[in-house]
Amino acid sequence: MPAKNTKTTKTFPHSMLKEIFEQPDVIKNIIDEYINKKRKEAVFNDPDKILKKLKKINRIIILGCGTSFHAGLAGKYMFSEYLGVEAEIELADEFIARKIKTDSKTLVITISQSGKTADIIKAVRLVRKQKSFILGITNGINSPLDKLSNFICFCQAGEEKALAATKTYTSQILLFALITLYFGKLQKKITPTLRVKIINEIIRLPKKINQILKQNVNLQIVADKYYKLDDLLVLGKNYQYVSALEAGLKLKETTYMHAESFALGEFLHGPVAISDKKHPCLIFAPTGKNYKEAKKMIKKLKKLKKKTIVITTQGNRQLIKIADKIIYTPKTLNLFNPILSIIPIQILAYHIAVLKGINPDKPRNLNKCVI
Ligand code: BG6
Repeated sequence: MPAKNTKTTKTFPHSMLKEIFEQPDVIKNIIDEYINKKRKEAVFNDPDKILKKLKKINRIIILGCGTSFHAGLAGKYMFSEYLGVEAEIELADEFIARKIKTDSKTLVITISQSGKTADIIKAVRLVRKQKSFILGITNGINSPLDKLSNFICFCQAGEEKALAATKTYTSQILLFALITLYFGKLQKKITPTLRVKIINEIIRLPKKINQILKQNVNLQIVADKYYKLDDLLVLGKNYQYVSALEAGLKLKETTYMHAESFALGEFLHGPVAISDKKHPCLIFAPTGKNYKEAKKMIKKLKKLKKKTIVITTQGNRQLIKIADKIIYTPKTLNLFNPILSIIPIQILAYHIAVLKGINPDKPRNLNKCVI
């Protein structure tokens, strides 16, 4: 199905901000395209029932680069949590370098915003030769990935002009959730009650994203406070580790800030040594699963006299006295925290770039797509 256009009519000074604001529409496009609202299930336009043949698959490898790799990591965690399947995940270039063998029973899920990135296409050509099944997730209609995949899911995001991937990232994560639901139903691993709960939450996502977008002016004020920072440590656990990785990349790409991401627990195995007043920490701490550990870390960092910026759930007042700055996002299911938590960071990265005099649409040394 061709990707739809997004409807935003407001004018924006840069494509990046426009594309961040298009996210509710992109999510709605995906809902329209891939959800049967009556039956509350994920549907893929699969006339040949290709996806059903995947029952024979005994190995799953996820491939991506940059932001797309991070979306793939969220997908890996979803497969593990909901399907009990441990998928492998590889950066496309490392996959090529390690000459990883696959076969006809391997499903290779390949994610690329552009569908053109050279590493991805080279990896896809290799697995095609090994007769593996390729499921592509891309925004690139008629891209090489589209043409080389056995089955394709489009991000429905419209053109993304700014260098930094924003709307395509959140759409890739949502597509992964829908693929998880589809396989979950096929393999009877997700109960109808759970499926309906997840679908209902997806339907609520555009509204929740709009609530975050309303914080744009506040986030501009936060950006004004922090834009001179040279270094930032970014921490998160489980799905929030995905957000930490993506936040680090988004800040590096658009603001040139040295933002270094760590898995929350891993931070204590070495990196904590660089803890000083100079290096503030951005911590993803939505309530629910893994919140306790994040809160413990925020307390520990306070003892170390480090400044903390925390992303947590609306209504959570427990961190007011221990965090230096709190950014709130609406409550959601854990698997959708990587969608909601990253949006304030996309907005922050945008404003920091502008305050530093960087064109957020075309930061230095980077290409939208490396071909
Ligand atoms: C890089 C871009 O070159 O390619 C990143 O700078 C992007 O922003 C990465 O995430 C992967 O691109 P794609 O199109 O394969 O998702």
